[in-house]
Amino acid sequence: MSPRRVGVLVSGSGTNLAALLDAERDGRLAPGEIACVISNRPGVRALERAAAAGKPAVVVDHKQFAGREPFEDALCAELARHEVEAIVLAGFMRVLTPRFLDRFPERVINIHPSLLPAFPGGHAIRDAFEAGVKETGCTVHFVIPAVDAGPVIAQARVSVESGETLDSLEAKIHRAEHALLTSVVKEFMAGKVEVPLSLRPS
Ligand code: GRF
Repeated sequence: MSPRRVGVLVSGSGTNLAALLDAERDGRLAPGEIACVISNRPGVRALERAAAAGKPAVVVDHKQFAGREPFEDALCAELARHEVEAIVLAGFMRVLTPRFLDRFPERVINIHPSLLPAFPGGHAIRDAFEAGVKETGCTVHFVIPAVDAGPVIAQARVSVESGETLDSLEAKIHRAEHALLTSVVKEFMAGKVEVPLSLRPS
């Protein structure tokens, strides 16, 4: 069955979250809905955006827990409380363990600002810019325990023009991310994203 209630995990500014909230408000995620937004960092802009849209905006601060397991247990408790069936990582800066991911088989997706497998990691836009590539972009992929390595669902390409600055490239990639993530989440919640065999329970 396709997931209807999505939880969005964030850590920062939340512009991708904002794109999803706008899409939901305009009826573009139906029949899906954003059930809650959870941040591992207190006080971030993403939480303000969620609250302004009338969504439960929850902090599960990883620093308050003795390790990954209790942190993830608290995360799972919040997700269960909001009856979340699928998870979108939208700028969520914590690595999730297999123990967490096993609770949501085939149901966790992430947005990354490069054409994976090129430029994984936390500085993907800058790394691509400094490498002098002519084209980069963004990727939505299923999350597996290895970071930025899960099966790709969709990508959008962005060209690097002559005279491009890191700032202008960042702006272009973020625009591409917002459109890509929204369209993939819509398809995902309509049950139209094919789950790769490698992720299906045996
Ligand atoms: C995005 O570039 C996303 O690809 C990466 O973190 C950034 C989050 O930006 N994983 P925002 O919080 O959605 O503005």
